[in-house]
Amino acid sequence: MTKTPKMPMENPDPRPPAPQGVPLLDLKRQHAPLREQMAAALAEALDDGRFVLGPEVTRLEENVAKYCRVPHAIGCASGSDALLLALMACDIGPGDEVILPSFTFFATASAVTRLGGRPVFADIDPASFNMDPAAVESLISPATKAILPVHLFGQCAPMDALCRIAKAADVPVIEDAAQAIGAEWDGVRAGALGDMGCFSFYPTKNLGGAGDGGMLTTAKADLDDKLRLLRGHGMRPRYYHEVVGINSRLDSFQAAVLNIKLAHLDRWTAMRQANAARYHEMFATAGLDRVLGLPSAGSRCRHAWNQYVVRVPNGRRDRLRKHLGEAKIGTEIYYPLGLHAQQCFAHLGYGPGDLPETDRAAEEVLALPIFPELTAAEQALVVEQTAAFFHAATGGHAIPRPNFLKRTAARKKTA
Ligand SMILES: Cc1ncc(COP(=O)(O)O)c(C=O)c1O
Repeated sequence: MTKTPKMPMENPDPRPPAPQGVPLLDLKRQHAPLREQMAAALAEALDDGRFVLGPEVTRLEENVAKYCRVPHAIGCASGSDALLLALMACDIGPGDEVILPSFTFFATASAVTRLGGRPVFADIDPASFNMDPAAVESLISPATKAILPVHLFGQCAPMDALCRIAKAADVPVIEDAAQAIGAEWDGVRAGALGDMGCFSFYPTKNLGGAGDGGMLTTAKADLDDKLRLLRGHGMRPRYYHEVVGINSRLDSFQAAVLNIKLAHLDRWTAMRQANAARYHEMFATAGLDRVLGLPSAGSRCRHAWNQYVVRVPNGRRDRLRKHLGEAKIGTEIYYPLGLHAQQCFAHLGYGPGDLPETDRAAEEVLALPIFPELTAAEQALVVEQTAAFFHAATGGHAIPRPNFLKRTAARKKTA
């Protein structure tokens, strides 16, 4: 008996299959359409042979300066080094105090201690997670030598108030803009708001390289000159050292990748913003705004949404995270412990209750996927699984129906 060859079955449902999980970040989706362009640029940099501070780096410095609307941009090896160099340019040393948030990545504070300075931690505004100007003002002392706000999760700190406090104290403002390239405060870009801006090109950032990289920005020609000197061992001319600097230079391969990606940054930021707006609507539709703290953009901000961070109160954060993990949904906790409570800073003498909003945030925050290429169906899965968790956790009282995806689909059909 001869078998009739089987025709491939046509999929009767033209809709894409429902997602089986959601990654916290998927750079493959971002890089796939740019792969050939990036490979060609890398090959060109290889053939060129000027691997450290080559022409691609100069071009990136010009491009970033233009993007941040600031006269000078100086490439360096990482965001951590950008912070260190900025503090070195302010001559921070033993006995000097720098006011900064405790609710941030470690590098913000370690840059101060590496120079012998003392980090003085200010508490945060619970709505934005950014440094509270009233707290900063109360910490100003004769030893204060700089204020170092962080534009956390992609949203600018309240820069007008912070710059006013800094001006009254006659100290510089260094922006930690590692998470906030393209963010704005009152229409001014991050990196152009203080005396110097520090950026990171770590791959998870909104403008991420294919490795480590960093950039400083400044409007001041004397700081531009000093930062360029400091990043190259304080050497000028060759083998003559004016000051003791460090070796912190950006390489041509990173710059080649970043020059290509920078052209897409505004489009990606708009996609992040759209994702944040969609989460907001979906969480509200599911009634989850009653049990979760949802992030929002302040009216004076252009939020770059490097992270979408919700608050999960009442001690449920870790259980929700476990539930989402079991549903293959990626999440992260930025940050589980304030810097003031870290073992390495025990000598600074902070104790329980010194920074209550920082402690509360560390217990409640949970970052959900927000990367530009995230799909609406993936977001719906995140919201549906969150609803399922709260439905079970509240015995069905707070969140009556977890079938969020189906209801949304049904509503769309009838619309
Ligand atoms: C707020 C903040 N500051 C500084 C850094 C340090 O940047 P890098 O990892 O490039 O050294 C990061 C990056 O993780 C960051 O998020």
